Amino acid sequence: MIGKSGQTRDGIRIHQEVDFAGMHKAGALASKILDDIAEHVFVGQTTGELDRLIEAMVNDAGAKSATIGYRGYQHASCISVNHVVCHGIPSDKKLKDGDILNIDVTVIVDGWFGDTSRMYVAGGKPNRKAERLIQVTHDALMIGIEAVKPGNTFGDIGHAIQSFVEGHRMSVVRDFCGHGLGRVFHSPPNVLHYGRAGTGAVLEEGMFFTIEPMVNLGRAETKVLADDWTAVTRDKSLSAQFEHSVGVTATGVEIFTLSAANKYHPTWG
Ligand code: MF3
Ligand code: CO
Ligand code: CO
Repeated sequence: MIGKSGQTRDGIRIHQEVDFAGMHKAGALASKILDDIAEHVFVGQTTGELDRLIEAMVNDAGAKSATIGYRGYQHASCISVNHVVCHGIPSDKKLKDGDILNIDVTVIVDGWFGDTSRMYVAGGKPNRKAERLIQVTHDALMIGIEAVKPGNTFGDIGHAIQSFVEGHRMSVVRDFCGHGLGRVFHSPPNVLHYGRAGTGAVLEEGMFFTIEPMVNLGRAETKVLADDWTAVTRDKSLSAQFEHSVGVTATGVEIFTLSAANKYHPTWG
C-alpha cells in the first residue's frame, strides 16, 4: 500500500499510483529521443548538431527540456565523449572514428521529469577495451536496478554496482550520483553507485529516482574543467555511463525509460 499523498520518508517523496503514469510518459519520450538520435551519430558529426536535433525533438513532442536554463546550462543534452565522465557541453568539435559518447537527455512532460542516458559509438566500431567498458557499464546499471524492491536499501544498489564493476577491474566514479526525481529534477536521495549492503535509506513503494553509474577504465578520480560543467577522468582513461529513471513498486521496480525499440547496444545499427 502506497503512503499518503505528499508523504516523505527520509526526505524522499512517496508517490501515488497515478504518478507512475506521468513518469512513464516522460520517460518514454526521453527514451524515444535516445532511440531516434542514434542514426545521427556518425564520424564527422558534431555534438552541437546532435544537441540541436535533440532540442527540436523535445519541442516537436510539445515537451520541455529540463536542462536548458538549469543552473545556467544552455543545452538540451549533455554529450560526454571518451574521457569525459559527464556533463559534456555540446560543441562544434567533430566526432572521430571509434569515439564513444554518452548522450543524456532530461525532458519535462505534463510536469513530470524523464531522465536517461546511453552510449553511442561514432563509426559503430569501438575498440575492444571500449566495448568491454560499455558492456560492463550497461550491465552494472541493470544489476543495480535488480536490487530495487521494497525493503532493500540504497546501499544494496550501490554495493551491487560497485562489486560488479570492480570485479571487472574497472572503477566506479564517486563524485557524481543518481538522484530522486518526479515533479522536480534533482531531489533526495543521492543514489550512490558504491556502498555497503544494508546501509542507507530503505526503499519503499512510490519512490522515484535515477540510477546512472559512471564507470572508468582507469582510476575513479574526476575533475571539472574551467567551463564549470565538463567532468573528465583525472588519468584521461575512458569513461562510460548509462542512466534509467525508475520507480519502486509493491513487488520490485518499474523502469520508466526503457527503449521501446530495445536500442541499447551502441553497435547494433
Ligand atoms: N541529466 C543529468 C542527470 O542525469 C543532469 C544534467 S544537468 C545539466 O542528472 F545541466 F548539466 F544538463
Ligand atoms: Co540523472
Ligand atoms: Co541524466
